[in-house]
Amino acid sequence: MTVQPVPADSAPADFDSPDDVARAFAEQGYITDRRLATTTFVMSRLAKPLLLEGPAGVGKTELAKTLAAATGRRLLRLQCYEGQDETKALYEWDYGKQLLYTQILREKTAQLLADTDTLEAAVDRVAGADSAFFNERFLAPRPLLEAIRSEDPVVLLVDEVDRADEALEAVLLEMLAEYQVSVPELGTFVAKQAPYVVLTSNNTRDLSAALKRRCLHLFLEYPDADRELEILRSKRTGLGDAAAQRLVDVVRGLRGLDLRKAPSISETIDWARTLAVLGVSELDAAVLADTVSVVAKYERDVERSRQALPRLVDPNATVPSSQDQGHGHAHSHGSHTHGGHSHDHSHDHGDHGDHGDHPADDGRRVRAAKDTPGRHDDSFGARGGPADAPAAPRKVGTGQGTRSFAPGNRGGARRRPV
Ligand SMILES: Nc1ncnc2c1ncn2[C@@H]1O[C@H](COP(=O)(O)OP(=O)(O)OP(=O)(O)O)[C@@H](O)[C@H]1O
Ligand SMILES: [Mg+2]
Repeated sequence: MTVQPVPADSAPADFDSPDDVARAFAEQGYITDRRLATTTFVMSRLAKPLLLEGPAGVGKTELAKTLAAATGRRLLRLQCYEGQDETKALYEWDYGKQLLYTQILREKTAQLLADTDTLEAAVDRVAGADSAFFNERFLAPRPLLEAIRSEDPVVLLVDEVDRADEALEAVLLEMLAEYQVSVPELGTFVAKQAPYVVLTSNNTRDLSAALKRRCLHLFLEYPDADRELEILRSKRTGLGDAAAQRLVDVVRGLRGLDLRKAPSISETIDWARTLAVLGVSELDAAVLADTVSVVAKYERDVERSRQALPRLVDPNATVPSSQDQGHGHAHSHGSHTHGGHSHDHSHDHGDHGDHGDHPADDGRRVRAAKDTPGRHDDSFGARGGPADAPAAPRKVGTGQGTRSFAPGNRGGARRRPV
C-alpha cells in the first residue's frame, strides 16, 4: 500500500506580528522579549524549525509548550537521550499485535497454504500476503512520524537534541528537510500542515552544521531584570512586589559570581515561593542565606552565595560599624535563629585589613555565624577558602550557567540580551 503524498500547506498564520506573539504568550504566562517574540513569529511564518540553545532553566522547553497552548496545537514531544535509536523517534512495527493476529488467524493461514506442497511454495504464498501485516494497522508511530501524519497541525518539541546520537540527528535532518517520513513498506508520508518544530539544546555537544543550517537559531539567555520580575509576577508566587524586585537583583548578582551552576529562572521562582511561604515581606541577608539552597545546588555555591548575599541585598552596605547594624539580620525574622550575629560583628573586623571596608565583610560575618568547622571540602578551600572575600561581582552574566555555558567555554562571544 502506498500513501499518497499530500503537499504541505503554505505557512499557517497563527500570529499577526511579533507583538501578537508576545501578547498570546503572556496570556499563557510566558514572558517574551522582543528578540524572542520576533524569532517565534518568523518561525511561524517560515515554517522553519527553531533551535533554542541556552543554559538550564531559561525557558526553552516552556517556549514550545507555550507555543502549543497559544496556537491550540497538540504538543508532541521527543525527549532525546544517549543511545536512543530511531525506532523510538520515528515508528515501530507493533510486533505483539502482528503476532496476536497471526495466532487468531491461524485457520485462515492454513487455508491459504492448503494447496502448497513444498516449503518454498508456502513461503512464497505467505510473502504474497505481507502487505496484510505491514500496513498502517500495525504501525506504531513515534513522535516524528506522528507529527507528520497528524490530521491537525501540531507543535513538535525535540527536547535536548544534543543528547541524541548523530545517527538520530541524521534522521531528524531528513525529516526536517521536507517534513516527510518514508516507511519502506508503505511509502512516504508528507505533512498536511508543516508542524512547528522546536529543538532545544544545552550544548553538551556541538550540533551538526547541517542541522543548524536548517533551523532558525536563538540563544536564550537569562532575562533582564524587568522581564524576570514580570515572570515572577505572572507566576503569582505570593511574594510582594518590592521584595520580588529585590530578589531579582540578588539573583542577578548571584549569577555574576563564579558559581558552578548559576540560578535559573525556575530557581528564582522557587525562591520567591519559598520566601512567600515563610511570610517574608522584606528581604535581608539572613533569611536569604537560610534559604539559598533553593537556588544554589552545590556546597561551594552555597558558601559563595552566602558570603555575597549581604552586599547583594544591600549594595550600600560598604560602611562597617553602625550602618551594618542597620541591616542586621535577627530582628525581622523571629522564626529564624541567627545566634551569634552581634557577637561576630564585634570581632570579625580587622582580621583582613586589606578588606576592612569591603562589603565582603558582611559575607564573612554571615558565614561565620552559620558555619561549622570542617564543612568545606578541599576543592572549596583550594579556590580561596571561606575566609577569603568573595570575588567582586561581575556585571550580571546573563549567558553563564551550566558547565557548557560557563564563560570560559564560550570565549568572549556571549551575546547580551537586547
Ligand atoms: N519567559 C518565561 N516566562 C515565564 N516563565 C518562564 C520563562 N522562562 C522560564 N520560565 C519558567 O522557568 C521554568 C523552567 O523553564 P524550562 O523548563 O523551559 O527551562 P529549560 O530552558 O528547558 O531548561 P533545561 O535546559 O534544564 O531543560 C518554566 O517551567 C517556567 O516556569
Ligand atoms: Mg528543557
